[in-house]
Amino acid sequence: MVITQRRRNKIIPIAGGKGGVGKTELCANLGVRLGQLGHDTIIIDLDLGGSNLHSALGIKNRHSGVGNFLSDRRLNFEDLVSPTPYANLRFIPGDVLVANTPNIGFAQKKSLIANIEKLDADYILLDLGSGANNNVVDFFLISNSGIIVTSPHVGAVLNAYSFMKNTVFRFLMRAFSGESEVERFLRKSIKERRPGNPVTIASVIEGMEQLDLKQAQKAGRYVRLMQPSLVLNLVRSGDDLNIAESLRDLVDKNLSVDLTALGFMIHDDHLAGSHRAHAPITAAIPDCLLAYEVDRIAQKIVQSPEFPTLPLEKDMYKDSYELMQIESATDLAQLQQEQGQGSQNSQANAEEFIEILTAQKKQIRDLQNTVRRLSIRQRF
Ligand SMILES: Nc1ncnc2c1ncn2[C@@H]1O[C@H](COP(=O)(O)OP(=O)(O)OP(=O)(O)O)[C@@H](O)[C@H]1O
Ligand SMILES: [Mg+2]
Repeated sequence: MVITQRRRNKIIPIAGGKGGVGKTELCANLGVRLGQLGHDTIIIDLDLGGSNLHSALGIKNRHSGVGNFLSDRRLNFEDLVSPTPYANLRFIPGDVLVANTPNIGFAQKKSLIANIEKLDADYILLDLGSGANNNVVDFFLISNSGIIVTSPHVGAVLNAYSFMKNTVFRFLMRAFSGESEVERFLRKSIKERRPGNPVTIASVIEGMEQLDLKQAQKAGRYVRLMQPSLVLNLVRSGDDLNIAESLRDLVDKNLSVDLTALGFMIHDDHLAGSHRAHAPITAAIPDCLLAYEVDRIAQKIVQSPEFPTLPLEKDMYKDSYELMQIESATDLAQLQQEQGQGSQNSQANAEEFIEILTAQKKQIRDLQNTVRRLSIRQRF
């Protein structure tokens, strides 16, 4: 892992485990917004086998991209950076023009990562594919401060957790590769099955202490370097935010990682309109709620000189999740008003709301049960 937060170019990988949760929409719109705010930004389509960042940008994919770079050694990576119609935003397409690139080799991946790090821009956003395989995880680990996107649905939240788990363990394995005794211990711990008692990072580090105190302390420092943040997308009710907090608690308890909330985006039907206009929503409908929420995320990144450390007054809000609750209360009220429901809080609406609340509570219970079952069955 390269700690990029102090470099001039801040690399922000965007992943999430689950497909269809809005990684690409966030990448395109955050890119447009950062550009509108005056920051030189490059977005790269690294969803090999599923490249569609150009569609989210509303542009035709005519330029060579990552796929061409991987299949033609003569190409210079920097030359792939192509213009977009949006201020200060450039783009490297994926592999739409080339077939069969999803299974890239280790050397290709290393070269790709080295070339991404050499690019000159204020922000470099990476749109990653779904899943938690080593390629996606390694791209995510280019930076210590990637964004995890999830929807409030149980399956998506579980995938986000699995993604985080793979990321932390792979980071540790990579950090200690070559340290044969520690590496062997890590490999063994990760594979260990302990019914009803998942292998946690805390317990792994505790075990390492018996073996080599210095290395165990190093592992603890490494894990603390990981500062991913969460964007909850497709939010429909205030209660959706509770599931994000369940994920935060799970990641904290089992992985010893502090997953900060960077923001949320409501499920916004305006997005279909922006697709029809062939432009990202931040450019096509800049005064809609979703564009406003993307702006809020962009502002948090920009105002933080060392992203992901958020520019929050620690005394003012208990934590970033409390801030997200406050932000969502106003947005959801506006959403209701936009939908013409604000003035008629009828009994039917109240009943609907209770139904959603009950469903959400059931989702959280299901999540906890599934996690319990997975902890029993699954190997780390
Ligand atoms: N906040 C939102 N409101 C409404 N629709 C949304 C929202 N976010 C994403 N969508 C829609 O959901 C679909 C999936 O979004 P997107 O392609 O960004 O997901 P993804 O995580 O990149 O998926 P994949 O893993 O397949 O690449 C798209 O049609 C997108 O327009
Ligand atoms: Mg995508």
